[in-house]
Amino acid sequence: MPLNLISEEILEAIRNHYDIVDVIGQHVALRKSGRNYTGLCPFHSEKTPSFSVSQDKQFYHCFGCGVGGDVIKFVMDFESLDFKEAVLQLANGAGLNVPTDNQLPLDPNERLKNSILQAYELTNKLYQYLLLETEQGKEALNYLQKRGFSRALIETFNIGFSPKGWDNLKSFLVKRGFSLELLEQAGLIGKSDEGRTFDSFRNRIMFPIADAQGRVVAFGGRVLDDSLPKYLNSPESLIFNKSRTLYNLHLAKKEIRKKRQAILFEGYVDTISVWRAGVHNGIATLGTSLTEEQAKLLRRYTEEVSICYDADLAGQKATYKAIQTLQQAGCKVKVLQLPPGQDPDDFISERGVEAFTKEVLPSYITATAFKLQFLRKDFSLNDESERIKYITKALEIIADLDQAIERETYLKGLAEEFQLSLQSLKNDLKNIYFAKRKKKERDRDNLTFKWNNNINNGNLMGRTKTLYPAYHNAEKQLICLMLRDREIAEKVGVEIGSDFHVEDFAVLAAYLYAYYGKGYEPDINRFTSMLEDQKYSQLATKLAMLDINEEVSANELNDYIQQVKRYNLDLEIKKKREEQLMAVRNQDLAKSVELGQQIIQLRNQLRRGKK
Ligand code: CTP
Ligand code: MN
Repeated sequence: MPLNLISEEILEAIRNHYDIVDVIGQHVALRKSGRNYTGLCPFHSEKTPSFSVSQDKQFYHCFGCGVGGDVIKFVMDFESLDFKEAVLQLANGAGLNVPTDNQLPLDPNERLKNSILQAYELTNKLYQYLLLETEQGKEALNYLQKRGFSRALIETFNIGFSPKGWDNLKSFLVKRGFSLELLEQAGLIGKSDEGRTFDSFRNRIMFPIADAQGRVVAFGGRVLDDSLPKYLNSPESLIFNKSRTLYNLHLAKKEIRKKRQAILFEGYVDTISVWRAGVHNGIATLGTSLTEEQAKLLRRYTEEVSICYDADLAGQKATYKAIQTLQQAGCKVKVLQLPPGQDPDDFISERGVEAFTKEVLPSYITATAFKLQFLRKDFSLNDESERIKYITKALEIIADLDQAIERETYLKGLAEEFQLSLQSLKNDLKNIYFAKRKKKERDRDNLTFKWNNNINNGNLMGRTKTLYPAYHNAEKQLICLMLRDREIAEKVGVEIGSDFHVEDFAVLAAYLYAYYGKGYEPDINRFTSMLEDQKYSQLATKLAMLDINEEVSANELNDYIQQVKRYNLDLEIKKKREEQLMAVRNQDLAKSVELGQQIIQLRNQLRRGKK
């Protein structure tokens, strides 16, 4: 995060102007509970509130999903803005004057990004002009109109046309001061093996792909005929991350929030076609399967997602996968169904926009119904052994459902269809259900020990303490104290330094040393804004939010320090013991004796520490 773009004073002024409880209270129903306010987290799905806002400390934290930060962070997350945009929005609201870009010293990376954005914007304008106003674009315009794209629709989606010829765009942009190197980096210009440069997109209909704020960051270019590849997409660049971008999110986000629902499509054309049917909450992936990041991004806007993919095998497979990804991100999923072989755009061309809203939209099926239906294809149900296999698999799917009523509904369906007794199915289900639960518990335990290797990070605090060795709690307490007290941080720096055993704590400690080293006073918001990695700022906020006794005695503090050091000694003793064992095995008596003495010394040290 380019913090240097905006001065500390402005950030301070923003934090002073707003009360975070008011800001968040506009979007989340908050209730006072003890010293904090709590409510349902707007960033993940939950039934009991684990989202907590501290008025004293002016920050928020969700004990469920781990998000957290100050008022600026909240606006960034909630409105999907980047840091600068959130600051500008808040500063505006507070009547504060933020120097505009050209007065600010931009870092080189930021400057490069801006230039690439500018290149895309200009390119988009040129392509749109060529499509709508010139002879060169006639054929493409005809093609689009034949497919039902009105001029207004083309303008809404900023669709354009890249002309034939190798260097139309190149000369247009070079004339405007862009270097070839930059254009190549942006993916707008390609380079042959002989070093000749040429326009990346030629003779294609250009669908601009925008980020959540509506800035063009890439293109999808479609041919006018059946030649291949049908679509050519911009490569990833400084401004474009394919797996974090959703087509049309900028236009659809308002409606998605309002309707509390998004519809996920496979293609650009589908998204645009349904727009004509008044469906303005449609978004699409970019030619790849839905990624975890895209699902999480979507979950920020809505809990409910309907998938409307092509009704062919590939589309159904992709649906199955997307259901899993969306559910893992905390979404509730429905599936819209089309006649075999069609995609949403085919359906609308054939049947019209009304048929889509009247027939397709209302007749969705649940994710579970879809999974069961999808599963059937793999079994020939006339064969008895196949049938049993299918039923077993179906029970596994049903066992995943959270609610008893839901489970019962699908069980009944299964019982009726195959003329089985409901009771026997229930018994089978129970066995599967318990086996699954046991497995889940096992997996969870495993995760608990792996959390500091990136898996499940951030979720550790809610877990039972007994699962952690003593040093773990000691290190946690120390970081908590260090966040609140400079002197403690300095003492820990001398005593332990970087020797924390839990990797994440070691990282936070290092940041804290650096933070205090710069002469700052304890201030969680300022500290976390220094942390580039969200993982650590979340962990820091979480720790700052914990109610610990801030008045620790010198004894208590020493105790924690000793526990950490003791573990170091333990490790060392263990290592020496192994070495000693080796020495004995190799009949190296001298070495064994030497190691024995070292072990005694270490043990003495341990004992001294305990006092
Ligand atoms: N796609 C892609 N590259 C390809 C083919 C497809 O990136 N070579 C992506 C595009 O995002 C496209 C989506 O996959 O929108 C769906 O592809 P497809 O169903 O083949 O195209 P349609 O969207 O149906 O486009 P059209 O109706 O114009 O054929
Ligand atoms: Mn299509």
